[in-house]
Amino acid sequence: MIEAQAPSRHSELKALLDTRSSCRAFRPDSLPRSTIEQILEMAQRTPSWCNTQPWQVSITEGEGTERFRKGLGEYVRSSPQAPDFPFPTAYQGDYGVRRKDCAMQLYASVGIAPGDRQASSAQTMKNFELFGAPHVAVITSDEALGTYGAVDCGLYVNTFLLAAHSLGVATIPQAALAGSAPYMREFFGLPEDRKVVCSISFGYADEEHPANSFRTPRADIATAATWVRA
Ligand SMILES: Cc1cc2nc3c(=O)[nH]c(=O)nc-3n(C[C@H](O)[C@H](O)[C@H](O)COP(=O)(O)O)c2cc1C
Repeated sequence: MIEAQAPSRHSELKALLDTRSSCRAFRPDSLPRSTIEQILEMAQRTPSWCNTQPWQVSITEGEGTERFRKGLGEYVRSSPQAPDFPFPTAYQGDYGVRRKDCAMQLYASVGIAPGDRQASSAQTMKNFELFGAPHVAVITSDEALGTYGAVDCGLYVNTFLLAAHSLGVATIPQAALAGSAPYMREFFGLPEDRKVVCSISFGYADEEHPANSFRTPRADIATAATWVRA
């Protein structure tokens, strides 16, 4: 039985992995609550260290999203970044190259010329408008679980993305919003020991929007894996 199912499981998962991409332009239509609950049920299957399941998810819908979006825009314009988990201090070597390539792909897709700082900053600000998404999920971890709590939450994020994709729902994970952790804490009434890992904006994709037209590449496995042969 397990043998017979394996090829279809493989091809279905491969298709999901190959076709998911980050969405940077959403249609305004809300998702049915039942669809969001289905995503949450699937994401809940995520493994975690000692099965601690440290993720907590604060989700907005309807007017809640509009209130969140408006307040976030105001917060970002008036407050310095204050992430709970420190942001990267440098993107060295390949990391810098890949980061720049992915930004250039986005800018080219929406017609921003290289070096046009004003237009690229305006594009970056769309993060804080949730790219027009009707929902956001803010994922937090428990402070005492430290780095591994955040790792578990990272796994949760990926399960959420794939679960959503399997249901025709578009997503984008956003660390950009984690810089506004104090705003999240206040908006959702989170206690001090809940630490913001990142958020996921989600909804239906605006398929025609140029920002959704490009696909990011991945490095060859030889750049990521090393082998011991003897
Ligand atoms: C933890 C995490 C944080 C991210 N934060 C942002 C973000 O703040 N803004 C953004 O536009 N994309 C963000 N992304 C999306 C990445 O840019 C994207 O996943 C990567 O370029 C690969 O492209 P793909 O998701 O289309 O495969 C984030 C992705 C992850 C996993």
